[in-house]
Amino acid sequence: MHYSTKANSNPTILQIVEQSGLSADAMSPVELLLDGDAGFSSDRILYVCNNISAEEMKFVHDKGVLVCLDSISQVDTWGKNLPNTDIMVRINPGTAGVGHSKKVETSGKDTKFGISEANLPELIETANKYHLRIVGTHQHLGSLFLNDKIDDYIEGVKTGLDIVKNNFKDIKIVDLGGGFGVPYNPNTEKPLDLFALSNKLIPILKDFIKSYPSVDEFKFEPGRYIPCESGIVIGTVTAVKQEYGTYYIGTDIGMNAMARVVLHKKPKKTTSRIYANICGNVCESGDVLGKKRIVELPEVGDIVVVYNCGAYGYSMSSNYTGRPRPAEVMVDGSSNITLIRKKEEISDLII
Ligand SMILES: Cc1ncc(COP(=O)(O)O)c(C=O)c1O
Repeated sequence: MHYSTKANSNPTILQIVEQSGLSADAMSPVELLLDGDAGFSSDRILYVCNNISAEEMKFVHDKGVLVCLDSISQVDTWGKNLPNTDIMVRINPGTAGVGHSKKVETSGKDTKFGISEANLPELIETANKYHLRIVGTHQHLGSLFLNDKIDDYIEGVKTGLDIVKNNFKDIKIVDLGGGFGVPYNPNTEKPLDLFALSNKLIPILKDFIKSYPSVDEFKFEPGRYIPCESGIVIGTVTAVKQEYGTYYIGTDIGMNAMARVVLHKKPKKTTSRIYANICGNVCESGDVLGKKRIVELPEVGDIVVVYNCGAYGYSMSSNYTGRPRPAEVMVDGSSNITLIRKKEEISDLII
């Protein structure tokens, strides 16, 4: 299991992941350095990248980290600069992507990721030209799939494994990516049934090894699944209004701090229940945390909590429109409270 650092790269969280025995995957030099600082040795880090420069490739190689490249062009650049080395390659099985929206589907015929089966002969020729050893393949079909997409995920795995069998000799690693989802709306979504998933997946993997015994490792790259449900964002209601029949609850949780739309609040049975759009404080019409959510009519100054923000929260945050990022605070199992990232001040943003 390689934890996908991009989901939450807070150094304290990374240390917890490292101590729990998972490996990591990094997608930029900074993520790689953060993983190293958290205690991951280079053999426990996989660098999954696309469209990187020759300088970045040398950086990864110098750190002793195995790379996964996602185009013939990148393999060519790697080979020219770092011949006679080990690489992994990312394939695109061409099956349906499995994500919560088209924007996070990373398989199929309309995505920038991976190499299609038709291009594998040229890929292998390019690798051979530079005496590169393809030690593993990788595929990642999308981010956030739940029970309704398990069959698509399995279809992608089957197709991917057939592609490995038909095109590669003596691969040691098959990486099946991440994407394991968590429910963001308890009214409409159920948790991913990992038993249903593994009951379908494991027989396929066992069967595959029988006919392809050189594979000694299947990797997975969960990102969101690890920290998501452990994180919440706490903010304050700053405005309440009703316009053209719709309630809007304004908060200080802008899209700069919480880019993923993830709000849910369990409605209480009370007469003051309303449908409302819960919004942030950034001047963008997309700055909405949740649409048509059932909530009690709040007052300015009330506390608002956004659940399931442990993944792709801080790691996707920005200073867009000049808003400082909030602090991160960890509350552990013994209720100890630790500041694990200081809040940014306005003075931090003024050069
Ligand atoms: C290559 C790769 N692996 C793993 C992940 C982690 O995905 P998730 O957080 O949905 O598990 C991503 C995220 O997009 C990714 O691009």
